[in-house]
Amino acid sequence: LSGDQVIVVSNREPYIHEKTETGIVVKRPASGLVTAVEPVMRACSGTWIAHGSGSADRDVVDAADRVAVPPGHDDYWLRRIWLTPEEEQGYYYGFANEGLWPLCHVAHVRPVFRESDWQAYKEVNRRFADAVVAEARGDDPVVLVQDYHFALLPALIREKLPRATILTFWHIPWPNPESFGICPWRREILQGMLGSTILGFHTRYHCKNFIETVDRYLEARIEHEHSTISYREKDTLVESYPISIEWPREDESMPPVAQCRANVVARLALPQQACIAVGIDRFDYTKGILERMNAVERFLEKHPEWVGRFVLVQVAAPTRAALDEYRNFSLRVQELADRINARFGNGTYAPIVLLAKHHEHDAVMELFRAADICLVTSLHDGMNLVCKEFVAARDDQQGVLILSRFAGAAREMPEALIVNPYHVEETADALHRAAVMPPAEQRERMASLRSTVREFNVFRWAGRMLADAGRWRLRARIEER
Ligand code: G6P
Repeated sequence: LSGDQVIVVSNREPYIHEKTETGIVVKRPASGLVTAVEPVMRACSGTWIAHGSGSADRDVVDAADRVAVPPGHDDYWLRRIWLTPEEEQGYYYGFANEGLWPLCHVAHVRPVFRESDWQAYKEVNRRFADAVVAEARGDDPVVLVQDYHFALLPALIREKLPRATILTFWHIPWPNPESFGICPWRREILQGMLGSTILGFHTRYHCKNFIETVDRYLEARIEHEHSTISYREKDTLVESYPISIEWPREDESMPPVAQCRANVVARLALPQQACIAVGIDRFDYTKGILERMNAVERFLEKHPEWVGRFVLVQVAAPTRAALDEYRNFSLRVQELADRINARFGNGTYAPIVLLAKHHEHDAVMELFRAADICLVTSLHDGMNLVCKEFVAARDDQQGVLILSRFAGAAREMPEALIVNPYHVEETADALHRAAVMPPAEQRERMASLRSTVREFNVFRWAGRMLADAGRWRLRARIEER
């Protein structure tokens, strides 16, 4: 694909400009999608189209609503789209996050489908399609469409740019046909997605669910052998591409583990010899934060010798807080933390330290390096990159990862302690096992995890998708002759 124009489309922008008292600051959002796609864009340049969401976003763009990023490096263009409050409400909060998000995660939160949200979702997808067409230099760009905010976009782009190569990646799970079937606009969503040349999911299992969903609700021809779907004379390859992270460069030195630990202990006033477990999540009901805390409570109940010397440091970055479901969830988490702390804590010790605040990359790295245990207990997760970042942070080959079997990452990381987060007893036992795991066993598991993540890094993810795209592009050109 060298020489081809690459355009990425996502809702969340990789850099957010915010006004503060001291001037404009640039922030990185807490988004697995951004974590993964950004290094790829830095490497191949091009244009990234996203919703401009920061309070100073308008102050830094040129007349075409573009700003070069990363700040100071200017590797690629960020083209911002301005949504009205009504559009943001209907398309982002409403249909994407009250409809599709719970629909696809099946985390027992009931999806909400409002006609007005659906109209806004369609309209915003159209606006992004117009932006892609405006940004395209020729008639055959390579467009990387990201996530559930843009299910309709592939077909809309295809209408205007029939020769474009459209790679759509769905970063969240895809449910079985029965679960998906409750969506009133299931056919339109599927038709929209089948505008893609390639449709990627994290796991084979999600691909299979998608293909079965199409089989159930559309008159499409499915070629199981090649994992392709033919719909209205157009073929789409449905393939799994497990997403990953950028592996730290050899020359990128991280502060010593002992120093990270000392900093964290001092800053959070933790007991000197504490066994530190960390959880780093957006404050989202799919992440299993309540289940994790219940497991901590059960662990302390079963193993009272750890009371006073075990702490869970839970970072919960505020997210989608305009939605009741999210606000209520954070209140429930706070209440549970208070109750457990009242039960096992005292004036100087609290087993749960809840930090309901966004942490920048360096602060997260420091926590990862300070930790004895990392807890990822998602109730359902497309992939989850926190577990991969934890592993990448541990060049000392110590630390134990406890990982939910319902995160896509569990399939690639069997050396973690794999748990069912709904099973409190099992997770509590895993916590105990992790707390007493000898350093040699930690090293063995961590070394193996590290070699997997190092090898299957984000460039492998993008490389495989782009190589498949290159092959399909070539075939299409040959057929055109
Ligand atoms: C998940 C989604 C991303 C999203 C991120 C953060 O990782 O797959 O598309 O960007 O959550 O959520 P937010 O709503 O803040 O963008």
